[in-house]
Amino acid sequence: MLGFRDDYDYVRALEVFQTADYTEMAISRAIGREEILRMATSDVPHVLRRTRESSRLNTLIRLYFLGLPVPVEAARSALAPVPLESWVEGELLCPPGSEDQVAPRVQIWPVNGLTLAVDLPWRRSTAPPPDFVVPPGVLTLELARAMIRRPCERVLDLGTGSGTLALLAAPYAGTVVATDKNERAIVFTRFNARLNQIGNVLCRVGDLFEPVAKQRFQLVLCNPPFVISPTQRYLFRDSGERGDVFCRRLVRSAVDYLEIGGFYQFTANIAQQVGRSWKSDLEEWFEGLGCDVLALVDRTDDVSDYALTWILSTESKEAALVSQLYENWMDYFERERIEAVSYLLITLRRSPGGPTWTQIDDPPCRIVGPCGDELVRFFECRDLFTANHVERLFNSRLRLAPEIRIEQEYTMTPGGLDVCNIRVKKTGGLQYPLNIHRNVTRLLAGCNGNQTLRQLLAEMADYLGVDWDRTVSVVLPAVRSLIERGVLLAVDPPKAEV
Ligand SMILES: C[S@@+](CC[C@H](N)C(=O)[O-])C[C@H]1O[C@@H](n2cnc3c(N)ncnc32)[C@H](O)[C@@H]1O
Repeated sequence: MLGFRDDYDYVRALEVFQTADYTEMAISRAIGREEILRMATSDVPHVLRRTRESSRLNTLIRLYFLGLPVPVEAARSALAPVPLESWVEGELLCPPGSEDQVAPRVQIWPVNGLTLAVDLPWRRSTAPPPDFVVPPGVLTLELARAMIRRPCERVLDLGTGSGTLALLAAPYAGTVVATDKNERAIVFTRFNARLNQIGNVLCRVGDLFEPVAKQRFQLVLCNPPFVISPTQRYLFRDSGERGDVFCRRLVRSAVDYLEIGGFYQFTANIAQQVGRSWKSDLEEWFEGLGCDVLALVDRTDDVSDYALTWILSTESKEAALVSQLYENWMDYFERERIEAVSYLLITLRRSPGGPTWTQIDDPPCRIVGPCGDELVRFFECRDLFTANHVERLFNSRLRLAPEIRIEQEYTMTPGGLDVCNIRVKKTGGLQYPLNIHRNVTRLLAGCNGNQTLRQLLAEMADYLGVDWDRTVSVVLPAVRSLIERGVLLAVDPPKAEV
């Protein structure tokens, strides 16, 4: 069973990785990739060359990041003070081979300050086993950045895999329940919790919400097996249900496990079917649920790209097999009339009652940094606007968020250079392409935290030479959307009355 016999070995093992600086940044420097997630199998020779000098970090990278054998003595000294024999007994290393080499039994990922064991990278020509435990992926990390990090009592991470999201949520929660249908995933999560000295994560094996029946949470996180595929090969990838039915079903069940006001944050794929509006299909997922929903579209792939991405990353790279699998996948999409698939990151809040809203933000957004607070602010602003507390908004003093840049694009006209495009850009958190009108830029220039929105709009009406009502009807929607997206901040943050 994965794990050290002696409790103290967990502490010492974590120190091994910490003192070696086994971090995302150090590894990305060593492998020459900006993000360690982007390392391809074809990078291995190049990484071996870059890590050929003898050092603790280089040995750990070869052993536990590349997942390759290293000389026994190099391993012994890199893994000290925990004896090599304890790593072998704990199923983290194979027993040393005849060639004086020792091979790893797990891969170890540094993720946002955590050190996480997962299954070794799969390098054989056959497919990995169905219960393979994957390292955190691009969408895990996006969900981690979007995670609402506010102190709360109870968090659920459904389909926890290696436990990444559960362990990242742990500092903000009284208890985190981490569940998975895959027993091996739960073994890894337990090990990772102990290795990272995190004591408030309860690990449970079971299907969907079965291990947490009748319990309620303030935050539910889920990066489910959302891939739309013709097969049910892997627990981490395929739900075994037709099209996007699994994601849809998961949404409808999750609400029963949320406290009123609680959030459910999850990733999903939605099928775009020929002749149908996928946005209407998505809105249907939430109909009658009593929840407010913000759905961010990460990207949309046509089915051919989608099939190839998943086949190459999870099935095989062997040309003949890839072609055969590609045919299967494409036949399936044709039968199901699916022409594209969108990747979504959805934040849903269980409403206390009254009218609810669903917003689908289609211009692809990028989550470049932590944005849980931005998402909460978005919901608070929508409360305020829905409650029609416009008077309070008029009295708010607004300032431009510090991380905002405004770009102008000019075009040559007979009268000289003319501004044709103005874009608002944020440098952190959640990034959208946002185009604004030049009059709104003028208003933004006055948002220094001293003037109220009423004063800013009055100046605008004056400047435009139009009456107050018309100014408000044209400019207020733009201002609201800039507040919702964190471009403008209220100096006295608007709060909805309950
Ligand atoms: C895409 S992986 C995500 C793992 C992890 N949360 C992450 O983001 O790295 C999906 C996880 O859901 C688990 N899973 C699949 N079907 C499940 C089910 N019916 N009930 C609970 N967990 C399930 C898989 O075993 C896998 O660990």
